[in-house]
Amino acid sequence: SIRHLLPTSLPFQRNDVTEHKTPAEMSRSSYHPGANLNPAEDYRRGRRIIAEDPDWYLTLVPCLSKLCLQSIIKNFEGLLIFEELKPSEKEFVQEGLSTSLPLDVTANWITDGVYWKRCCEGRWDLCDVSHYGNSWKRMFFERHMENIIELFIPEVTETNKVLDLVPICKNYVKRLDITQLLPPIKEPQTEEEEDGLELLGNNEGPSIDHFNFNILLSKLTNLEELHLVYRVKQCGMNFEWQMFEMTDRDCVSLATALKSCMTLKLLRLHESHIDDKKCRLLVKHLLDHPSLRKLDFSYNLIGDRGTRAVAKLLARSKLETLNMCCNEIREHGAKAIAHALSNNSTLLSLNLRLNRLGDEGGQAIGKALLNNDNNTLLHLHLGGNTLTAPTAIALAKVIAQNKTLKGINLSCNNLGVAGGKALEEAMSYNTNITECDIRQTEVDEQSVSFINQVVWNNKSSEKKKKTQENKSK
Ligand SMILES: *[C@@H]1O[C@H](CO)[C@@H](O)[C@H](O)[C@H]1NC(C)=O
Ligand SMILES: *[C@@H]1O[C@H](CO)[C@@H](O)[C@H](O)[C@H]1NC(C)=O
Ligand SMILES: *[C@@H]1O[C@H](CO)[C@@H](O)[C@H](O)[C@H]1NC(C)=O
Ligand SMILES: *[C@@H]1O[C@H](CO)[C@@H](O)[C@H](O)[C@H]1NC(C)=O
Ligand SMILES: *[C@@H]1O[C@H](CO)[C@@H](O)[C@H](O)[C@H]1NC(C)=O
Ligand SMILES: *[C@@H]1O[C@H](CO)[C@@H](O)[C@H](O)[C@H]1NC(C)=O
Ligand SMILES: *[C@@H]1O[C@H](CO)[C@@H](O)[C@H](O)[C@H]1NC(C)=O
Repeated sequence: SIRHLLPTSLPFQRNDVTEHKTPAEMSRSSYHPGANLNPAEDYRRGRRIIAEDPDWYLTLVPCLSKLCLQSIIKNFEGLLIFEELKPSEKEFVQEGLSTSLPLDVTANWITDGVYWKRCCEGRWDLCDVSHYGNSWKRMFFERHMENIIELFIPEVTETNKVLDLVPICKNYVKRLDITQLLPPIKEPQTEEEEDGLELLGNNEGPSIDHFNFNILLSKLTNLEELHLVYRVKQCGMNFEWQMFEMTDRDCVSLATALKSCMTLKLLRLHESHIDDKKCRLLVKHLLDHPSLRKLDFSYNLIGDRGTRAVAKLLARSKLETLNMCCNEIREHGAKAIAHALSNNSTLLSLNLRLNRLGDEGGQAIGKALLNNDNNTLLHLHLGGNTLTAPTAIALAKVIAQNKTLKGINLSCNNLGVAGGKALEEAMSYNTNITECDIRQTEVDEQSVSFINQVVWNNKSSEKKKKTQENKSK
């Protein structure tokens, strides 16, 4: 309207004001003609009343370029000229765009930045972008895909819901951290049917197969990390053990999927009831995997047979980190791992916490590290394995040798006074260990304080070295 063109600084006439007053207001103002108001307030009141257009306010008319940008924001889908804008204009458009635009439009056109930050923060309360390589776009697509998979109900959700997303987001998804997988909905069975099934000797019930990763993983060509757990969160009164394990068919489809995912560097499959049979199947498909570096099977049911397969994998891959914490590994499994360690393994970190290695297993690992010039291991965790003095003595020999080992954790074992003394003596020669946990091991207090002192010294001299290196750089 014409009014928009009026300069804002133009003071309006008081009679202008009265013209627009309602009769009631006029009569009021004739009684108190601004008597109780200070001049400034009076002035503002006057200005408010002159606006015929309730949306009109006293700012400058936006410049044409702003109006154009606003129009681009409103018609983003139809125009698609985002690329041609200047950086500052792009910024402005990203600030204004609706976060509910279809992803196949925004994914291709809008680069990482403010827009994706707004999308993430609008959707999730906690957004730590440093966890996603400082890329908001990556955060959005990874979490979006995770959410869809976590709510995927087999036989109900269309697989296209996931697959349609693949071409849009495969360039951004580097890690998938799946924290739940839903089973199919069980048809409530009538009593008759149940009787019938029992008569047929078929009490296995409907097998629960989860989301089939075989349709997805080979298509995610940038996937480097996969964290998986077969469980249902907040299942409440519907609890069943079956909700917390992968089925045989799940295992087959996951194994083939993993084999086809050439870029995978880290696989974490935890708390999913993986037994020897499933472990062997998975490992069979991972042998000679070109990029796998970290493997985590913690909190499962893997025993010696499964562990032997994993040991074979150590020889047939370039694994750097192996975590088998809280499984059922005993002496033979430990020996298999020890054998793999002594044969040119590339392992940097080994975690066998909370298993049942016993001294036979512990000593085997100690021997594998002793006199092994090609040993690369930096961190060893044997906490909670019913180890006693013989293992401590075997490991003491390794420590005294000044090998590559930097951290060793033997907490929650019964090393006893003799074991402690052996470690103490060994530590007095060592200059490389900067972490040694021997809490809850029945070791004599004197030994503990001596070992801690050495570790502390080594640590501080390592720090000094590092700062000197940084300075010389
Ligand atoms: C380790 O590898 C080297 C060659 O890279 C080989 O000569 C040696 O025998 C291997 N060691 C064992 C125990 O296989
Ligand atoms: C050592 O590892 C190599 C592969 O790196 C393998 O061919 C060889 O059989 C292994 N040796 C033993 C004794 O397991
Ligand atoms: C260590 O590796 C070297 C070459 O990589 C090899 O010559 C040597 O035999 C290996 N030693 C052992 C104990 O495997
Ligand atoms: C360990 O290494 C340090 C320095 O690298 C050396 O002074 C010390 O003698 C070594 N100890 C043994 C037992 O080789
Ligand atoms: C001890 O660690 C240092 C680096 O921290 C390394 O240069 C040295 O080779 C290690 N000593 C042995 C015997 O491996
Ligand atoms: C040793 O392992 C225990 C149990 O996992 C852990 O709480 C502790 O922090 C570890 N010690 C070190 C020095 O990392
Ligand atoms: C590690 O601790 C020992 C014992 O306190 C000390 O002699 C040694 O100098 C320390 N290591 C280094 C690299 O200084």
